Amino acid sequence: MEKIWLSTPHMGGTEKKYIEDAFEKNWIAPLGPNVNLFEDKIQSFLGKNKHVAALSSGTAALHLALILCGVERDDEVICQSMTFSASANPIVYLGANPVFVDSELETWNIDPNALEDAIKDGIKRNKKPKAIIAVHLYGMPYQHEAIQSLSTQYKIPIIEDSAEALGSKYAGQKCGTLGDLSILSFNGNKIITTSGGGAIVTSDLNQKQKAIFLATQARDDAPHYQHSHIGYNYRLSNVSAGIGCGQMEVLEDRVEKRRSINRFYKEIFKNTENIQLLKEPNDKFFSNFWLSTITFQDNNGFELREKLRVNLGEKYNIETRPLWKPMHLQPVFKDTRYFGSNVAEDLFNRGLCLPSGSALTDNELSRIKEAFEEELS
Ligand SMILES: Cc1ncc(COP(=O)(O)O)c(C=O)c1O
Repeated sequence: MEKIWLSTPHMGGTEKKYIEDAFEKNWIAPLGPNVNLFEDKIQSFLGKNKHVAALSSGTAALHLALILCGVERDDEVICQSMTFSASANPIVYLGANPVFVDSELETWNIDPNALEDAIKDGIKRNKKPKAIIAVHLYGMPYQHEAIQSLSTQYKIPIIEDSAEALGSKYAGQKCGTLGDLSILSFNGNKIITTSGGGAIVTSDLNQKQKAIFLATQARDDAPHYQHSHIGYNYRLSNVSAGIGCGQMEVLEDRVEKRRSINRFYKEIFKNTENIQLLKEPNDKFFSNFWLSTITFQDNNGFELREKLRVNLGEKYNIETRPLWKPMHLQPVFKDTRYFGSNVAEDLFNRGLCLPSGSALTDNELSRIKEAFEEELS
């Protein structure tokens, strides 16, 4: 039995054409026509006069976004606790301190009430947060209006971590355009991939140019190598960008396929009262359903989740995974400030990510359906 994975790369077919072009023209470097074209394609997808800088990873994009927000040593940055560690690590790269905030139950993303508590506490301690990192987990948009209104009220910029949410929308507005600065990831498991890559999105052309300057070793304008700033080697390779150019041609198809997989799970779980599939709270939310996710509602949800996860792996060779372990529970962040209760912790204990890749075949989907039917009967 071949293994069924959570989310695998899914090539569209034209990627090789762009890569061959890079070889033919000898643009085997972290700059070139594919990089420019890839940026143009993302820009025209996102619209609304957005400017995009293609980078080597989403993590690099977050690092540069924090620098562009002026984050420095000993500053504080608020970050959603329930997320992948890459949302928070770049805060520490800069010698700044994360302050973690709990999730709310509708979207599993940053809770506006706990966020306001964290902001007020920072202000009281004379440590007003320099930025808020809000994440669209598994493709589900965060509560944009509530978060945006706190950002405006307290004048703290939002870094929108849209690593998992390209193709999602809030009230018709595309994820990746909702923050003061936004980031995307094109890692191998994402909705589209460049094998490894990311991007920073901004409305300000100067910010894009500054991001590219920092991402290309911060070289001053001089015939020799001259530096007035610390730089990074964060630009996307022209070969990788070729994959991205091909992938942008199929992005809408990939979103539709992942949404159809979510409908497939809806059918499977329609009569299982103790298992809930995460759904869009109302028609303002449009998720790309990068991953479809469930939670067990029972008191012994953890045990049931683990039994299902282990059986799917051992008996059917189907990969599933617990939800992201919240950052405030990670050993590396054990002494970090945290605001909220135990929503994220409880979701982590009871929740499971299901195979959701757009490359899943009908045969694989039938195997998944049968496995669930046997395990849940
Ligand atoms: C929420 C989130 N933020 C940031 C990242 C980092 O992106 P990358 O792997 O491209 O560095 C990822 C994915 O890997 C992610 O899921």
